Amino acid sequence: MIIVLMGPPGAGKGTQASRLEQQHGLVQLSTGDMLRAAVRNETAVGLEAKSYMDAGDLVPDQVVVGIIAERTAKQDCENGFVLDGFPRTVAQAEALDAMLSERGAQVDQAVELTVSEEALVERITGRFSCAKCGEGYHDQFKRPAQAGVCDRCGSTEFTRRADDNEQTVRERLAAYRQKTAPVLGYYGAKGLLTEIDGLQSIDTVAHQMDDALGVTN
Ligand code: AP5
Ligand code: ZN
Repeated sequence: MIIVLMGPPGAGKGTQASRLEQQHGLVQLSTGDMLRAAVRNETAVGLEAKSYMDAGDLVPDQVVVGIIAERTAKQDCENGFVLDGFPRTVAQAEALDAMLSERGAQVDQAVELTVSEEALVERITGRFSCAKCGEGYHDQFKRPAQAGVCDRCGSTEFTRRADDNEQTVRERLAAYRQKTAPVLGYYGAKGLLTEIDGLQSIDTVAHQMDDALGVTN
């Protein structure tokens, strides 16, 4: 099954994609995580992407399409994957369709998480993640069960993203409205889009998403 998770920055895409991977074995493919790794490792892609990401703007289509083409061709993606943060423009959505159809596959479902702008800023500025395994947390909404220890891997080191400040969040929201919102229409016209209220609790969103996707434990 190939799923596209959509929604503005902070809507909960990463939280739900990680859960789908852990509970249902669908590989999480986050272009944001891949680009941050490229920036950290100072690869050619990372050097090109950094200035766009720091400004809250989108990285050029051909860069992210190239990353996704390479990653989805790997063997662990054979049983399906969840795209988290891709496609973010109609051109990326078209490139994805072309790439999948060459392999005899297609997007099975797109899910949009809707959340108001004020809630998004609160979520993003309170977010942190495990420095070792990447598990996401929140100062208020999702703390580790044991303070200072990652639930998933036991690490005691945590990190916050460079672009998680209020000013960059506003730029990211503007990029979403202008460039990414049209992708909702793209999947809606194909009858593939389900909308879920992302303001509900993480567990409620998870249940509704599993129902929409037809996956069970
Ligand atoms: P990316 O990493 O994709 O960031 P984003 O889309 O801005 O999304 P976020 O990761 O901020 O939010 P999320 O929806 O995953 O929320 P999360 O689950 O963490 O992209 C970063 C940058 O990379 C872009 O700006 C761009 O430059 C570049 N880029 C990436 N992909 C690209 C592409 N395809 N094309 C071009 N450029 C690209 O949740 C947020 C917080 O809220 C967490 O702390 C979480 O614990 C909490 N939370 C989650 N759900 C709930 C809930 N239901 N209730 C309460 N709290 C919740
Ligand atoms: Zn961890």
